[in-house]
Amino acid sequence: MTNCFEKTILHDNVTVGDNGSLRFAGVDTAALAKKYGTPLYLMDADLIRRRCRLYQKEMKAAFGGESRPVYAGKAFCTKAIYRIMTECGMSVDLVSPGELFTAKSAGFPMERAFFHGNNKTDADIVLALEAGVGCFVCDSREELIALNRLAEERGIKQAILLRVTPGIDPHTFAAVTTGKVDSKFGSPIAMRLTKLALSLPHIDLLGFHCHIGSQIFEATPYIDAVDVMTGFMADVRDETGFVAKTLNLGGGFGVRYTESDPVFEYDTAIWSLADAVKRAAVRNDLPFPTVLLEPGRSIVADAGMTLYTVGTVKEIPGFRTYVSVDGGMPDNPRYALYRSVYTVVNATHADKAPDRAVTVAGRCCESGDLIAEGARIATPERGDLLAVLVTGAYNYSMASNYNRVPRPPVVFLSKGKDKLAVRRESYEDLVRNDL
Ligand code: LLP
Repeated sequence: MTNCFEKTILHDNVTVGDNGSLRFAGVDTAALAKKYGTPLYLMDADLIRRRCRLYQKEMKAAFGGESRPVYAGKAFCTKAIYRIMTECGMSVDLVSPGELFTAKSAGFPMERAFFHGNNKTDADIVLALEAGVGCFVCDSREELIALNRLAEERGIKQAILLRVTPGIDPHTFAAVTTGKVDSKFGSPIAMRLTKLALSLPHIDLLGFHCHIGSQIFEATPYIDAVDVMTGFMADVRDETGFVAKTLNLGGGFGVRYTESDPVFEYDTAIWSLADAVKRAAVRNDLPFPTVLLEPGRSIVADAGMTLYTVGTVKEIPGFRTYVSVDGGMPDNPRYALYRSVYTVVNATHADKAPDRAVTVAGRCCESGDLIAEGARIATPERGDLLAVLVTGAYNYSMASNYNRVPRPPVVFLSKGKDKLAVRRESYEDLVRNDL
């Protein structure tokens, strides 16, 4: 099961076998590529379970009561993961009717679901009400009014959280900064919205939500958010008499994509947050709230790996070496979108030291279709397997069919066994809805 060299690469579920081939979650990548073909998404299901338990255990111990993690399905959304979330007793955050449908199809208990979205249509609201979603996260006047009307028609009083923008800049990359005042999410004029929510008879306001951003490596911006949010909760209490029971601090804990990213200890961060909430509750004379966190990336990112087969290796003297693979921006658009840096390994020769800096290019008719630049790997040749590490978050969930490239399958690994979770798309699938 484990490697003979005891060599791990970046994370301890990535090891090297005695044949020099890369192993993931204790399974030989060459054997998986042979069985399922490439490109191929792999997910370490045992790591996902361990992460859920770590969040649950630490949050219960640090915050007590009903405080718990809520998995943000936008990071990776398939029926298989909602089965794991069901089994682990997790709550989930659903951000669209499609995510809701996926969770429901997997039998996820909807009372443990939070329904997000900055522009829910009436049809979305009806779908979520009829599915029995436990809690809506509302962020506009229009949504509150529509939800109240649609809940009334069904004789429901719907539990909600109100999403507030706390005005915090977590200094991560701009595309994932969401808690600043200038944001399409949430509302900086939350007092008026709070009063509206309290006045609507079919709405049961439980408390407040904020999300400051993603890929954050320090507790400080969260502690600042706690201070802003609890200050707001105190203002609401003073002005309306309403005492919020729940405080949702969103997701965003950082993940190690490369050696230069720090190791972020989630348990330590959770305890720092608990300490901040305790101090803020005392300072504002508020009861200690139920605290929710919405981790997405930090539950699934390092549980994922993508395998490709190398096609052409093109050295352009004086410039660079392009290594083209059989996938690319359709299965991982993050380099094209955000210049996100990944660790790449020649999985066929994982025992060889990296000796070459290469640009890993995809197969699309688009020069921006790159997976990595300056990636240091053992010189590959046609037919070698290339592994891109830490692709479990926002890869499959952001995949497209650009250039009519079928999406790769997803294989879950658990206790040394592999199980197909999502079939490879066929060419037939690509034309299924074409008339
Ligand atoms: N809660 C809310 C309200 C969110 O908007 C998000 C992410 C999360 C939780 C989960 O955050 P996480 O723990 O995964 O950082 N496509 C981008 C990431 C966008 C994140 C959007 N919101 C990427 O590939 O980096």
